[in-house]
Amino acid sequence: MAQHTPSPEQWAALESAARNAARRAYAPYSRFAVGAAILDHNGQIHPGCNVENASYGLGNCAERTAIYSARVLHDLQEIVAVCVYTPTATPTSPCGACRQVLNEFGPDMLVRCICDGDARIDTTLDQLLPHAFGPQNLADAACES
Ligand code: THU
Repeated sequence: MAQHTPSPEQWAALESAARNAARRAYAPYSRFAVGAAILDHNGQIHPGCNVENASYGLGNCAERTAIYSARVLHDLQEIVAVCVYTPTATPTSPCGACRQVLNEFGPDMLVRCICDGDARIDTTLDQLLPHAFGPQNLADAACES
């Protein structure tokens, strides 16, 4: 369960930040721009975009850019929600790698995916990555040994 429920105004600001972040995407190879925005428990918003590389495998997704900034750079302990925007007709949900990384730092977060069409996805990370592997698994194993 998420501990905070964003207000309609916070959701609107988060959506706007994700849309703006997509404009900053560095995606010359895929031409697939993605913007993400993380809402923290202080009500602050941390945007991110995808950043590709000529060595393709080194590209970073928008969600990971955003959560690394929020959770690591700004040391925020509690992540409330993420919004993902793509300039597409249908919404794009976080890739598997991003689900795993989001789980590391905000297993209770809400997830909203928006696009240029009317469709949207409103879900939770727990629904996107059920029975997740995370830090607790390692902590539990350490206790057993
Ligand atoms: N991408 C994201 O930024 N987030 C996702 O969840 C899916 C994919 C990016 C990675 C790459 O730069 C481009 O979209 C095409 O895969």
